[in-house]
Amino acid sequence: MIEVRDVGVRFGGVRALSDVGLAVPRGQTCGVIGPNGAGKTTLFDVVTGLRRPTTGTVLLDGRDVTGLSAVRRSRMGLRRTFQRPQVFGRLTVLDNVLTALEWRGGGGGLAADLVGWRGRRRVERERRDRARAVLDRCGIVDLAGSYAADLPIGRRRMVELARALADDPAVLLLDEPTSGLDEEQAALFASVVASLDATVLLVEHDVGFVMAACERVVVLDLGKVIADGPPDRVREDPVVRAAYLG
Ligand SMILES: Nc1ncnc2c1ncn2[C@@H]1O[C@H](COP(=O)(O)OP(=O)(O)OP(=O)(O)O)[C@@H](O)[C@H]1O
Ligand SMILES: [Mg+2]
Repeated sequence: MIEVRDVGVRFGGVRALSDVGLAVPRGQTCGVIGPNGAGKTTLFDVVTGLRRPTTGTVLLDGRDVTGLSAVRRSRMGLRRTFQRPQVFGRLTVLDNVLTALEWRGGGGGLAADLVGWRGRRRVERERRDRARAVLDRCGIVDLAGSYAADLPIGRRRMVELARALADDPAVLLLDEPTSGLDEEQAALFASVVASLDATVLLVEHDVGFVMAACERVVVLDLGKVIADGPPDRVREDPVVRAAYLG
């Protein structure tokens, strides 16, 4: 479903990624761990299309998307969250989620507004119901009317997650989703992720969370994959222990 082949990214003299290869089959939840600066976020940027790799190829569902924009990839069902949560601060929590449902259109535009077209009102109602349902699932339906900018970081992460889930993503990339969440919020986050059908790639420093939430763990160090396998095996891997787990 997600595949990167021989991906390299250079920032001047820094090799952020070198010859990275990774194939995540449909429906798998795969964790990515590694020390600061290992290249985890850069890998996400390459998969989502925010950064063109210096070398290599990215495939989504078997299709070469290396040359496609982030918007085109998102239309293929790819969603992500950011290490620093990106929400629309001046919109309410509900409107943040509704933005994710706008792109398909179907509202009939200005003309429909002017004549008060019934179909449009129905679509609008369905979108609101759907947005509220996803807020409920993420434990923040009580915040629907709050402005996103007024929320603490942990709640903003949940708004970002809700927005990513609103439109049933095929592929979801989560960059350090539990940082800033308390234990109860992190547990809710884990249960939401566990309930998804999507293919999930998850960067996280909380190794316990990764080991519990992921069927597979990939370890990056200095831009290279140094281990890839089931959590138990990766945890015991001497190379990983030396580089990261101590
Ligand atoms: N826009 C950029 N310009 C120059 N160098 C960059 C840029 N983005 C990342 N780097 C460098 O690339 C390397 C990988 O960075 P990246 O952010 O992908 O690491 P990371 O594994 O996500 O780290 P962290 O755990 O701290 O989030 C680092 O050496 C970083 O300094
Ligand atoms: Mg990062």
